[in-house]
Amino acid sequence: MNGARYAQITGWGMYVPEKVLTNEDLSHIVDTTDEWIVTMTGIRERRVVGDKESTATLAIRSARAALLVAGIAASEIDLIIVATITPEYLFPATASVVQDAIGATRAGAFDLAAGCSGFIYALTMANAYVRGGADHVLVIGAETLSRILDWTDRNTCVLFGDGAGAVVVSASAERSGVLASQLGSDGSGAELLYVPAGGSRVPTTHETISSGGHFARMNGREVFRFATTIMPQAVEAVVGDAGWQKADIDLVIPHQANRRIIESATKRLNLPPDKFFVNVDRYGNTSAASIPIALCEAIAAGRVKQGDKLVLVGFGAGLSWAAAALEWGAALPVKPQPWLRRLAVSIWFPLAAVRSFWRRTARHVYNWILGPVGKDDWRGRLRDRADRIGERSKPSSGPPGPKE
Ligand code: UT7
Repeated sequence: MNGARYAQITGWGMYVPEKVLTNEDLSHIVDTTDEWIVTMTGIRERRVVGDKESTATLAIRSARAALLVAGIAASEIDLIIVATITPEYLFPATASVVQDAIGATRAGAFDLAAGCSGFIYALTMANAYVRGGADHVLVIGAETLSRILDWTDRNTCVLFGDGAGAVVVSASAERSGVLASQLGSDGSGAELLYVPAGGSRVPTTHETISSGGHFARMNGREVFRFATTIMPQAVEAVVGDAGWQKADIDLVIPHQANRRIIESATKRLNLPPDKFFVNVDRYGNTSAASIPIALCEAIAAGRVKQGDKLVLVGFGAGLSWAAAALEWGAALPVKPQPWLRRLAVSIWFPLAAVRSFWRRTARHVYNWILGPVGKDDWRGRLRDRADRIGERSKPSSGPPGPKE
């Protein structure tokens, strides 16, 4: 592609676990009521993962859905970014697990931890990478917050939920897609929303576990005050950067933490409430996953049209905040991909499983024959192995000798 490059969202997908946890269910776990939760947050229910699910399994399902909409085979992806604060492991990156599972054979992969602002941070990175020459970047927000919640702490456990949303960001010559973004951070508020233990500062010990240091802690009031101030500021700043007026905005997709925070931003920005998409009632706060999930639902509900001016805005742990202004480029409602293209995209998923199995097995066999660091004389090593197996199968005579 010659000339200017823009980064457009060409595919999108979401996945939430099947298990629904209602406010009524929570009232049997902690001292709370449906009335308190609905009045104070707008949340009615949230999804939580089952035993066999994890951040990567949610991310993979949302990624597959996004690739099918885009009609892009996983092998065409240049980079995968997973925004999450509940990664599969401390390391390696959840993005690498996703890369292997979907068969993104030529993609780089990394995780990005910017709390609930993570998806917009990742979208901003994808925009820069695409403008710099990449063709397709897969951006995922995925969380299993239920795994880091203290289910005896009513201040936090009623607020959060699990889920994942993904978008494919592709290069386009058309002036649309991500037109501006704003990223911000105020680390002086790090302890307002954090997991105190399990990192390098307070490593995991029996004491940190018995004191619940591995659970999320939050000063809700402070985060609330920060959110209601920063959200309108970030929206105004990014709208200015995009060269728009506030009245040009067709839809704001805010981070879904609390209906009251969204309503406060609506008033401060002096925008009609129907310009804000809200689904916090059904999923609670899914952190980095909340904006891509809301985007998918806004598209499904017919709230997004080609040429619309959208603002995404998030805030959260860090403290961090982010906003992006994008002009929607993809035609909607989306036309199903031709069957051959769908086949080319979906065939990649079972092939990826075979490829992964083959690579793991090959590594195992290689290690068994050559040792973990390899060896030049592999034939000699193979003979050694065969001799040892032969020795083992001979009937033993007398006590065993000294070990080699
Ligand atoms: O992605 C960013 C993540 N975080 C957020 O967005 C959270 C932002 N903060 C908030 O949304 C609000 O601070 C909350 C909804 C969490 C709480 O609202 P609040 O107006 O700040 O209430 P509060 O924490 O000051 O608590 C008020 C009362 C307290 O009782 P007392 O001390 O007044 O008797 C709490 O103990 O509400 C009590 N309370 C509850 N009562 C029933 C706190 N949680 C609950 C609960 N059920 N689940």
